[in-house]
Amino acid sequence: MKREEQQETPLFTALKKYVQDRTISFHVPGHKGGRGIPEFREFVGDNILAIDVTAGILELDNVCNPLGVIKRAEELAADAFGADHAHFLVNGTTSGIQAMILSVAGPGDEIIIPRNAHRSVVGGLILSGARPVYIKPVIDDYLGIAMGITPESVRRALVEHPNAKAVFVINPTYYGVASNLREIVEIAHSFGKPVIVDEAHGAHFAFHPDLPLSAMEAGADMSAASVHKLVGSMTQSSILLVKSRLVDDKRVKAAMNLTQTTSPSYPLMASLDVARKQIALRGREMLDRTIKLCEEARREMNRIEGIYVVGREVEGTEGCFAYDPTKLAINVRELGLSGFEVEKILKYEYHIQVELSDLYNVLAVGAIGDSDESLAALVDAVRDIAQKYGRKNVIKIAASLPENQELVVSPRFAFYSDKKVVPLEESEGEISAEMLMAYPPGIPIICPGERITGEVIEYAKALKAEGCHLQGTEDPEAGFIKVLADRESVEIEYYRGAEQVG
Ligand SMILES: Cc1ncc(COP(=O)(O)O)c(C=O)c1O
Repeated sequence: MKREEQQETPLFTALKKYVQDRTISFHVPGHKGGRGIPEFREFVGDNILAIDVTAGILELDNVCNPLGVIKRAEELAADAFGADHAHFLVNGTTSGIQAMILSVAGPGDEIIIPRNAHRSVVGGLILSGARPVYIKPVIDDYLGIAMGITPESVRRALVEHPNAKAVFVINPTYYGVASNLREIVEIAHSFGKPVIVDEAHGAHFAFHPDLPLSAMEAGADMSAASVHKLVGSMTQSSILLVKSRLVDDKRVKAAMNLTQTTSPSYPLMASLDVARKQIALRGREMLDRTIKLCEEARREMNRIEGIYVVGREVEGTEGCFAYDPTKLAINVRELGLSGFEVEKILKYEYHIQVELSDLYNVLAVGAIGDSDESLAALVDAVRDIAQKYGRKNVIKIAASLPENQELVVSPRFAFYSDKKVVPLEESEGEISAEMLMAYPPGIPIICPGERITGEVIEYAKALKAEGCHLQGTEDPEAGFIKVLADRESVEIEYYRGAEQVG
């Protein structure tokens, strides 16, 4: 495709024309261009409601089976992101991850997955009935975070599980750590297995040479990328990319149509169309500036006593092949403050909202919308906090991330089994029927089907004591957890292979 073609915004242009035509609508949505909800319209403005139409209007195409302007917009996106096919998603990368898993694995099939995968992966496993073969990411004890996975661990998993249907990779982690994706792809392909990639935090990679390789550049088969997180489109709008000899795009599309709404938001899809044009034509220049601003802020913050902002020095260490410099993971453990505390101070004293915090870090996400001023405000606030609050060299928290748990039954089996509710503190040895996670980043501490260990309980207690809000359990306070009612018979059932419940 010629570069000039990236100037086009077929969907956005068709929507603007629809509005100019002043068509009288007897179609849903019932607010009819916002006239039915004046209070909301007054605040958000006319145009966003004027383009809030839905599938079924001839010239605006249909995302479930695109043949017109959405098809063209998706072709342009595929070209920009280096894929053969692109599919617009309006339910985030979550729905793309579910569709990718559904398209490669069915009930009882194995799939190789890093244990620090996002909760949407567990959703994909429950929906498909697939069984995860978890591989352990490398853990950085000082930073207290999971890094990437090694190619060697993928090879071992494939040797031990030759029937696995696919390898799932996170590119990059929430904190910006990328594994050696190209080598992982080569290994997986040498076993004839497709590689599917969570690029919730990597949608910008294809557009700047100083960023880690994108999934498509590394030769992966599929990727779900949150365009809304780092490429400028509106929240919830993501993209599913396919370039594969091992996966049939028609099957991917069919899987996507199982979970995607039939009433997709046109404002979201139009924002994908415009964000794609912008990143295709101006991405290099915009990301140049973002990287420069973030590197400068990192340098400044690393001069502050008690602060460490991880950067490219970790590239080449185990579990980190490449690092995304637009991430500012600010490690505060030497201040003797937890990341949770610093997040709250930043929010309530400085009106700065970070992406997330954990025991030791706060994560500030740099992106194309940042400015000199926004990064200077962050640096100044961190400097101020270090001076005002720092209780030097007090390392308060001893708990470390629990290691890989024992998977006793599949997530789907656990989800559909008879359950009982027990206090989390008394649940050691039980098989969890729920997920328990710190959100963000939404990475499960325990997954459905796993045995709960003392270590998990201790870690959850330490997180709670530091003010982290745990989620995933039906009990909103995560004081209680649902476990399998009859764990002995469940184990027998499982080992008989009779686990396809539901
Ligand atoms: C690593 C990771 N994967 C997947 C997702 C899901 O993406 P989305 O919010 O676009 O559904 C997230 C969201 O935060 C994430 O952090």
